Amino acid sequence: MRIALFASGNGSNVEAIIQASLEGRLDAEIACLFCDNPHAYVIERAIKHNIPFFVCAPQQCATREKWEGFILSFLETHQVDWIVLAGFMRIIGQPLLNRFPNRILNIHPSLLPAFPGKNSIKEAFDAKATHTGVTVHYVDNGIDTGPVIAQEEVAIQDGWDLETLEEAIHQIEHRLYPEIIQQVTKKECAYS
Ligand code: GRF
Repeated sequence: MRIALFASGNGSNVEAIIQASLEGRLDAEIACLFCDNPHAYVIERAIKHNIPFFVCAPQQCATREKWEGFILSFLETHQVDWIVLAGFMRIIGQPLLNRFPNRILNIHPSLLPAFPGKNSIKEAFDAKATHTGVTVHYVDNGIDTGPVIAQEEVAIQDGWDLETLEEAIHQIEHRLYPEIIQQVTKKECAYS
């Protein structure tokens, strides 16, 4: 099983998935990383772990189709079976969805359908929600709308500031995502 990670920023989830693979908790090879942001720290992580990477922002390409075409060629080169989005801040278009049907996963820092989009942790905090959490889901052509695979709740305690909530969410993400990737990719393997 060969996984491509897609990320746009810090890459703490990328790091957690790589560690799970190195420690044998995730029975899959991290084949490569795609990043759409030339300034993202996640690129340093790929270098550190010797993972092949490709960095390309859509603005560098004449059309979105060309951008996705470059990404598809990169994935073919690395013989990828699954795509795992880990803090990837762009919508996945039809060419990638068609090539990897039901084989693209995402993690989102809220209990979807609540708080979709980019600032979910802050939005839950500002809304004074009593609970929020983490969702792992399949990717479709919407924003955080694909079928939910797993969710884990966080009860927001009195006295927590935004930073405390962010830490609690990330701690869950780093454990939950590798576990669910393992379950989902193994299950699919057993049926194929
Ligand atoms: C995570 O909270 C993830 O759920 C969301 O983006 C954030 C990425 O964090 N999609 P990192 O880059 O993995 O540290």
